[in-house]
Amino acid sequence: MSNGDVSQGRRRFLIGATSVVGGVGVVGAAVPFVQSWNPSAKAEAAGAPVTVKVDKIEPGQQITVNWRGKPVWIIRRTEEMLDNLEKMTPRLKDPESTAASQQPEYISGTTRSLKPEFIVLVGICTHLGCVPTYRPEVAPADLGDEWLGGLFCPCHGSKFDLSGRVFSGQPAPLNLEVPPYRFDDDATMTVGLDPEAA
Ligand code: FES
Repeated sequence: MSNGDVSQGRRRFLIGATSVVGGVGVVGAAVPFVQSWNPSAKAEAAGAPVTVKVDKIEPGQQITVNWRGKPVWIIRRTEEMLDNLEKMTPRLKDPESTAASQQPEYISGTTRSLKPEFIVLVGICTHLGCVPTYRPEVAPADLGDEWLGGLFCPCHGSKFDLSGRVFSGQPAPLNLEVPPYRFDDDATMTVGLDPEAA
């Protein structure tokens, strides 16, 4: 064997060893990522709080976040929407939201919210669990002249106002649920945590 053959052999070995080390390095890098991802995915499924930037939501816009496997809506209500809530009272089954199961104790009144412009609702109909649709328009052809904007369940026709309060005479027995939430600052909300003062 010549010196050239030896160095060829060493070079092959070194290349092989480097590849193995490189492979271990990749696995080593991947494991911490998987480990750090799994608990948060599990925690989210189990109900971990969800933090949301709300300052970019336009007036009149609805966004949906996933909390405990449920859709949670955040709607930024306009002044007109808030004014219309007062007009809804005679048409509602439970305008004062007396059913304690449907909101935390720090949520009350017509707006059912911590800050009037933001309403936070679990987007599941209290009848048989369909997902209602956001219908912010006033007097659309299919919902009639008296519709002032709200949420409409396509399954059996239940109607809710923009505070999630169910109209009288609907299949849905209860107002939509308001989940626990808090404002961390003016721009940020966390769904799944109560306000610190609560
Ligand atoms: S599930 Fe919504 S009205 Fe029946």
